[in-house]
Amino acid sequence: MIHGSGAGPPTEEVVLSVQGLRTWFDTPNGVVKAVDDVSFELRRGDVLAIVGESGSGKSVTAQSLMKLVSRPPGRYAGGAVRMDGEDLLSLGERSLEEIRGKRISMIFQSPRAVLNPSFTVSAQMVETVRRHDPAVSKEEARTRALALLRAVDFPDPIRVAACYPHQMSGGMCQRVGIALSLACEPQVLIADEPTTALDVLVQSTILLLLKRTYLAQGIPIVLITHDFGVVRAIATRVIVMYAGKIQEEGPVDAVLAEPRHPYTRVLIDSVPRAGHAEQRLFQIEGQPPDLSRLPPGCSFAERCAFVTARCRAEAPALRRSSNGSLVRCHLVAPEG
Ligand SMILES: Nc1ncnc2c1ncn2[C@@H]1O[C@H](COP(=O)(O)OP(=O)(O)O)[C@@H](O)[C@H]1O
Ligand SMILES: [Mg+2]
Repeated sequence: MIHGSGAGPPTEEVVLSVQGLRTWFDTPNGVVKAVDDVSFELRRGDVLAIVGESGSGKSVTAQSLMKLVSRPPGRYAGGAVRMDGEDLLSLGERSLEEIRGKRISMIFQSPRAVLNPSFTVSAQMVETVRRHDPAVSKEEARTRALALLRAVDFPDPIRVAACYPHQMSGGMCQRVGIALSLACEPQVLIADEPTTALDVLVQSTILLLLKRTYLAQGIPIVLITHDFGVVRAIATRVIVMYAGKIQEEGPVDAVLAEPRHPYTRVLIDSVPRAGHAEQRLFQIEGQPPDLSRLPPGCSFAERCAFVTARCRAEAPALRRSSNGSLVRCHLVAPEG
C-alpha cells in the first residue's frame, strides 16, 4: 500500500491494536459481557471517539487497554491489546506499571479525583516529572512543570503551581490533569469523558487544548464521550457501542452524515442541540438489555423501529457498508 506524499508526520502508523477484546464480569446473576469482541486500530493522528449510552462498555473498554480490570469479578475472556508488538494483556503488574502513565496516559471525567488533595500542583507535577525521568533534579523538574502549566494555557504558572486542588475550578483541575499526562510524554492518550463535568465554554477550551498539545504532535487519542458535539469538534473516527459490542465504526464525517445502524441514527437524533453538559445525555425509549442475559439475535432488536424476525433470531456480524463504515445490522446492505 502506498502511504502519503512523505510531507508531514506519518499518519498511518498503527500505535495500538485491539483484537477481539472480551472483558467480562462474573456476577451472582451470571456473566456480564461488558466488552464483547471489540477490535480496532489506533494510528498516529487519530482521535477515535467511542460513543454510546451509559452502560454500553465504553469505560471498561478504556480501562482494559491498560489492563486495569485486573481483579475478580472482572476477567479478560479473550483478545489482545498490542503496542510495539507486545500484548499488554499478557503482561504482569510490574511491566504494566511501566506502561500506565508512561506509554499510555489517561485523563478522566473527574480530574479532582486524580489529584491528591493534600499536595500543591507543583509538588504533584514535580513528582510525576521525576517518576517519568528519574535523572532530573528537583529544580529542573520544577522548571519543566512550569513550562507544562504554560503549555496548558495558564498565564501565571507560578501562582497555579502553588495551589491545592480545592483552590481550583473543575476546568483548571482538568488542565492540570492534561499537563500531568503530557509530563509523561505518552504514545497514546485515553480520555474518558474529559469534558462531561465542565460547562460548555470550558469544554471547548479543553478540546482545543487537546488538539494543540496531543493532535499537533500526532499522538493518538481514544476519546470516550456521550456528546456528539465533542465528536464533531475533535474526533477523526468514531465507534458506536451498544451492549458491549461495536455497532458502527467509521470516519466521523461518514458516520455523522450517513449513519447506517438504526441505533446510531437514534443516538444522533436523541441529543438536544444546545444546553449544558448534564442535559446532553441521550434520551432513547426503552432500556438497554441486561448484559448477563443478552438475547440470541441483535441486542438492539427490542428497541429498533425496523426489527424483523431474523434480527431476533440471528446475531448480526460487523460488515463493511457501501460508505466504508463497519456496521452490525442485518438491514444494512454490505459493500459491493
Ligand atoms: N465491577 C463490575 N462488576 C460487574 N459489572 C460491571 C463492573 N464494572 C462494570 N460493569 C458493567 O459493565 C457494563 C459497562 O460499564 P461501563 O464500561 O462503565 O459503561 P459506560 O459505557 O457507561 O462507560 C455496565 O453494564 C456495568 O454494569
Ligand atoms: Mg463510562
